[in-house]
Amino acid sequence: MSSFTAFDRIPRERLPALLAAMPKAELHLHIEGSLEPELIFALAQRNGVALPYASVEALRAAYAFTDLQSFLDIYYAGASVLLKEQDFFDMAWAYLQRAAADNVLHAEIFFDPQTHTARGVPLLAVIQGLEHACRRAHQELGVSAKLILCFLRHLSEDEAMATLDEALPHKHHFIGVGLDSSERGHPPEKFARVFAKARAAGLHLVAHAGEEGPPEYVKSALDVLHVERIDHGVRSLEDPALVRRLAAEGMALTVCPLSNVKLRVFDTMAQHNLPALLAAGLKATINSDDPAYFGGYVNRNFVETFAALPQLGAREAYALARNSFEASFADAAAKARWIAALDRAFEEAAV
Ligand code: ADE
Ligand code: ZN
Repeated sequence: MSSFTAFDRIPRERLPALLAAMPKAELHLHIEGSLEPELIFALAQRNGVALPYASVEALRAAYAFTDLQSFLDIYYAGASVLLKEQDFFDMAWAYLQRAAADNVLHAEIFFDPQTHTARGVPLLAVIQGLEHACRRAHQELGVSAKLILCFLRHLSEDEAMATLDEALPHKHHFIGVGLDSSERGHPPEKFARVFAKARAAGLHLVAHAGEEGPPEYVKSALDVLHVERIDHGVRSLEDPALVRRLAAEGMALTVCPLSNVKLRVFDTMAQHNLPALLAAGLKATINSDDPAYFGGYVNRNFVETFAALPQLGAREAYALARNSFEASFADAAAKARWIAALDRAFEEAAV
């Protein structure tokens, strides 16, 4: 596989434009977290749902988070306006257009079915609305888009199992399962049986671990759930043996820098440990998590992260984008095509 190496031919002032223009994959994006306040209000009106906020501005003003739970409370309230298949289509289509504008060639999109089925929304309305947007994105935007069904870890394993059982007849519409929501107090092993069943069904496996939770949760996501990627994983750095293991196994971490600052995992972007993760040889990627809530889509994450961390240059930009393709669940031919496009973008930026 070809590989760009002439990083010293890319001046630092070209970095912001290159970060935006380079092809990339997004591997950690909650579709409910892409719901912009304007769309929340439009859907609330369309569906006759009352919101506890008087205006778009009042809702946006509530986006001042102190930790993961303070965000999740507002995020689940925002998702309450989603009722019909068309709503799920509209939300995903809006995201995919923004992703295309950020030169995302491939997106693996999380969705939280339990947030919706608990309100009486049929699972199929959720899946079909999202899938329709993914299909249209491929046809009209040239963006490859796949779905990953996430279980809410603050709910019981039985509820996750019931969700999996209901979804399995439709598994041709999603490529894997994940684990999200409140991390502390809900270790991965709580969902061992559910992940074993998903694995037996041939689905890919990922889990949030080491966002707010300890490095032990990263280990149990690997050893008990057998995940193929760790979502976040930034607290892995507290355990040197775990870091060595992640590096040796080439295990990808889907890091979300703006999310980590908004949810106070790091006080400032300048304190983010992404440079240390890369220096330790970890296969890190940059993603937006919940872009409507955290101040920006994937390109904004790249640009703000690189602006705050002078250790990050063209070499790291290339590594992060390349990692995003390599860590995706796409086939080898697609990965090779995307990496060739990445190499071309870097050749064009070199002087
Ligand atoms: N659901 C949406 N965003 C999340 C995050 N950052 N962590 C856990 N669950 C989430
Ligand atoms: Zn997340």
